[in-house]
Amino acid sequence: MISNATKQTTTMSEHSGRSRRLLLVPSPLQGHITPMLQLATYLHSQGFSITIAHADVNSPDSSNHPNLTFLPLPANLSGTDNSGGLTQFFTNINVNCKPYLYEYVVKSCDKESLVIVHDNLTFFAGEVAGELGVPEIVLRGSSAVFFPAFNIIPKLHQDGRFPPSDSLLEEIIPELHPFRYKDLPFRTRPIDKTLELITLTSPKTHPSAFIWNTVEFLEQSVLTQIRNSHQVPVFTIGPLHKTVTIGSTSFLEEDTSCITWLDTQPPKSVIYVSLGSLANLDENVACELAWGLVNSNHPFLWVVRPGLVRGFEWTEFLPEGLVDEIKDKGLIVKWAPQKSVLGHKAVGGFWSHCGWNSTMEGLSEGVPMLCQPFDVDQLLNARYVCDVWIMGFEVVVERGEIAGAVKRVLAGEEGEEMRRRAIEIQEKVKLAIGDGGSSHNSLKELVAFILSL
Ligand code: UDX
Repeated sequence: MISNATKQTTTMSEHSGRSRRLLLVPSPLQGHITPMLQLATYLHSQGFSITIAHADVNSPDSSNHPNLTFLPLPANLSGTDNSGGLTQFFTNINVNCKPYLYEYVVKSCDKESLVIVHDNLTFFAGEVAGELGVPEIVLRGSSAVFFPAFNIIPKLHQDGRFPPSDSLLEEIIPELHPFRYKDLPFRTRPIDKTLELITLTSPKTHPSAFIWNTVEFLEQSVLTQIRNSHQVPVFTIGPLHKTVTIGSTSFLEEDTSCITWLDTQPPKSVIYVSLGSLANLDENVACELAWGLVNSNHPFLWVVRPGLVRGFEWTEFLPEGLVDEIKDKGLIVKWAPQKSVLGHKAVGGFWSHCGWNSTMEGLSEGVPMLCQPFDVDQLLNARYVCDVWIMGFEVVVERGEIAGAVKRVLAGEEGEEMRRRAIEIQEKVKLAIGDGGSSHNSLKELVAFILSL
């Protein structure tokens, strides 16, 4: 385990006698900034000098990462049109931040010793690298399968297979076995918006390598497919949170009182419910979820992020009677220290939207999952959890169904079997990050690769 306080164990001169300065450019989303800061901390421990160049929106708290240097890039979002959703947001970030990064590299960096590592959504950094002749590496924060699943959409659209007709939904996509048409991202959004997003984010540069916060054995066949089609090194270094210990990367304050509450609950009795940093619920769906949890008669810890329920600041959507019932049976917090929660002995099941970080965190702790995927890579990740790794199942958000689903995972043989599978996967993850394991080796190879550029 490497902590940000740990001394550098292998110095740069031991590696090659040359020094490399790394400019890391995260995207300003919770699920993306965390793996970038974890990677930065690891690379710093290997002797690299690191600057995090980030848009000045959702900025990381630099005081939590004393070994890293932070360079805010003005995104000027207040003066721009943000009505166009995600595509507009990332267009603005990429257009507005680019000149600042360009100027910084020209004026303040030695291009001979510089490498730029950027998130796939901050592609302006790749453009700067290309224009200035600096090597570029891309870190992707989602599952590996999301890459081909996203990129194949224009072809499927041309063939008349996207958006898929109802009769296709359950069918397996021949190019993407074992994923089905219904697992594809952005299936229910307007197709012109999806194609616009794909055009915007499709790489126009030629990265020297890709890094994925995944584990080789989890996504072997899709990784082979990616390596065959891209012909550049692909480093699979996850789950980073198990290799690198860093200060909090949360945009919201973590409510640690839930750990004290978990301490009072019996082992494997609690359902932890968390839908990540972006998903939203309608009021009726949120109430069904609340009733279902209460009716299950099992304790639950529910993260209700401010704004999670559309039209409400926080928990005002809950009718009064339900608030009293929840007080007896569960705990609601605005934001939890999720990794510690999942590792707590009282937690017996993880109700998740299957964002990639959450999925990796759940399987690293051997916790069976109840899946409520929304979009992006979450449906693909849920397919892995339910049908490939068989350590969870998809839930229907209706109060009667929920109570049954919670019982299914916490009590009875099926739940035990899923827990056994989850623990098996947890053990394989431990092997991957240990000495000689695939992720351990991949991290070392990444360091050597950067030094060879
Ligand atoms: C987004 C996308 O939605 C996801 O599909 C993609 O794979 C990554 O980017 P997000 O929806 O926020 O991410 O989900 P996820 O990837 O699971 O990241 C959420 C992070 O927030 C996790 O690291 C989780 O530990 C953390 N979290 C969540 C907390 O620390 N506390 C909480 O209460 C809830």
